[in-house]
Amino acid sequence: MTPGGKRVVLVAAVADNGVIGDGPDIPWKIPGEQARFKALTMGHTLVMGRATYDSIGRPLPGRTTVVLTRDPGWSAEGVLVAHDLDAALGLAADLPGDVMVAGGGQVYAAAMDRADEQVLSFVHQTPEGDTFYPELDPDSWTETGREPHEGYDVVRLARRVSRRGAAG
Ligand SMILES: NC(=O)c1ccc[n+]([C@@H]2O[C@H](COP(=O)([O-])OP(=O)(O)OC[C@H]3O[C@@H](n4cnc5c(N)ncnc54)[C@H](OP(=O)(O)O)[C@@H]3O)[C@@H](O)[C@H]2O)c1
Repeated sequence: MTPGGKRVVLVAAVADNGVIGDGPDIPWKIPGEQARFKALTMGHTLVMGRATYDSIGRPLPGRTTVVLTRDPGWSAEGVLVAHDLDAALGLAADLPGDVMVAGGGQVYAAAMDRADEQVLSFVHQTPEGDTFYPELDPDSWTETGREPHEGYDVVRLARRVSRRGAAG
């Protein structure tokens, strides 16, 4: 959750072996999965790491982008910059829609404890890669939906425990 009470949603595509990236690239091409990311995030605010931003190379149209970097001199046209996760979520609280965390590995790991929901495309492949999705704690997440598609399943996970730590 952001300071202003907005939902924080992690959106990722994860292979059967946990790989999400290889160098700058996502090591598969599934056109329907990319269209799904676009539809899911359109109109919302994306929070992404500088490496993921560099690999895309431009702000994604129709969405507000906050890039996380520790480099105080970094900037790019058409995006907002934050230097730590709290600052990114604070900025995003005043921006359109939900806060969609769009990767990569470092940023998913940093944001996992702040997330209210995850929308994960589990891709039925075992590619080579060097970036992995963080381990999921089964006690913290409950599956709320699963849609099978050709080559991948879209799974929605909701946080099981309230932010105050009470069982929910
Ligand atoms: N499969 C998917 O759904 C998916 C989605 C997105 C990305 N990816 C893949 O993931 C890979 C990139 O992931 P990655 O883990 O290497 O990099 P990343 O998370 O995209 O970006 C890492 C960079 O973000 C900045 N950063 C990270 N945490 C920060 C924090 N807490 N505070 C301030 N700045 C922070 C730092 O930038 P500075 O170095 O500038 O300080 C860091 O070097 C690529 O292969 C990409 O294709 C996959």
